[in-house]
Amino acid sequence: MTKILVLNGPNLNLLGQREPAVYGSATLADVEALCAKACDAAGVSLAFKQSNHEGELVEALHQAGRDQAAGELLGVVFNAGAYTHTSVALHDAIKGAAVTVIELHISNVHAREAFRHHSYISPAAKAVMAGFGVQGYALAIAGLVQLSK
Ligand code: DQA
Repeated sequence: MTKILVLNGPNLNLLGQREPAVYGSATLADVEALCAKACDAAGVSLAFKQSNHEGELVEALHQAGRDQAAGELLGVVFNAGAYTHTSVALHDAIKGAAVTVIELHISNVHAREAFRHHSYISPAAKAVMAGFGVQGYALAIAGLVQLSK
């Protein structure tokens, strides 16, 4: 069965307690369960990771590129958290690994502070989703499956 990687960056381990007015009350474990359900419905398997470290995210994208080239992975739903707005390294990793990435944000970053309006991920991503709350993860999984048909 092909798989999808849902990759989460810094501070997303704090979901549920972190600014609930912005990110809601679901925990990262709840998000993983929601993603597992969406993957089940789409007939793909789920790999789910979170890291607060930029280099670990770079390495996860490299591995995802190898898995995709081997026909084992459809792509990555990637919430890079604050690294979205700062990381040339993650931009380069997506391009270098030639991996399909759906950029995902729980909040509508464009309705928030100006420093969240620029993304280094978007120019390297296949598609971008923001503002659907944690349900966006399920929508992005369905979208990635649709794109790969
Ligand atoms: C986020 C938005 C980012 O600006 C922020 O730094 C995050 C979460 C979101 O999911 O809405 O950590 O990516």
